[in-house]
Amino acid sequence: MGAAVRVVVGITGATGAAYGLRLLERLRETGSETHLVVSPAGVLNVHHELGLDRKTLEARADVAYAPGDVGAAIASGSFETTAMVVAPCSMRTLAAVAHGLSDNLLTRAADVALKERRRLVLMVRETPLNLAHLRNMTAVTEMGGIVFPPLPAFYHRPQSIAELIDDSVERVLALIGVAAAAPRSWNGLG
Ligand SMILES: Cc1cc2nc3c(=O)[nH]c(=O)nc-3n(C[C@H](O)[C@H](O)[C@H](O)COP(=O)(O)O)c2cc1C
Repeated sequence: MGAAVRVVVGITGATGAAYGLRLLERLRETGSETHLVVSPAGVLNVHHELGLDRKTLEARADVAYAPGDVGAAIASGSFETTAMVVAPCSMRTLAAVAHGLSDNLLTRAADVALKERRRLVLMVRETPLNLAHLRNMTAVTEMGGIVFPPLPAFYHRPQSIAELIDDSVERVLALIGVAAAAPRSWNGLG
């Protein structure tokens, strides 16, 4: 361990488990150290959408924690990290972060990122959005967090779902300062 970039990754029960998995893969490829927390609903969706069990998913991270382990290293600001990304982020977890609940290790780690003024990226996923969702996104933004819904862009004419996922994941990697991130840039029409 001792990588230049140390990232806390949260995976929650919103659809889009593939974003979390791909994020873990790319962080490993780019030599980043990953600390993973998956909520119980996240485990359900990872199994339903990707056919992976908790152990197999957790093997993709350097360190994995149980969501109830609120005494873990990532629960403290004294454990230095570069950033935290929740991919995907459910509206429940968004609400908990917006209101500073710290009701499990994942939301506590997000609370720590905000209080330490570290990068926190929430790949929120729901549609349509109600007023509570919108207000919670505003609150997180006001506290310095980045609300990053993984919305696909079509101007690169994607040919596969994997390409759509990579577009969002590479932009998130760039946002958290991973030097080897490879986001595609738009260079203008024609
Ligand atoms: C198949 C499935 C898909 C879901 N998709 C979403 C979603 O896209 N967004 C969301 O906010 N909640 C979604 N949920 C509901 C959450 O899993 C639920 O609110 C859960 O309590 C979230 O808890 P967590 O934030 O601790 O993971 C989904 C649930 C299931 C079973």
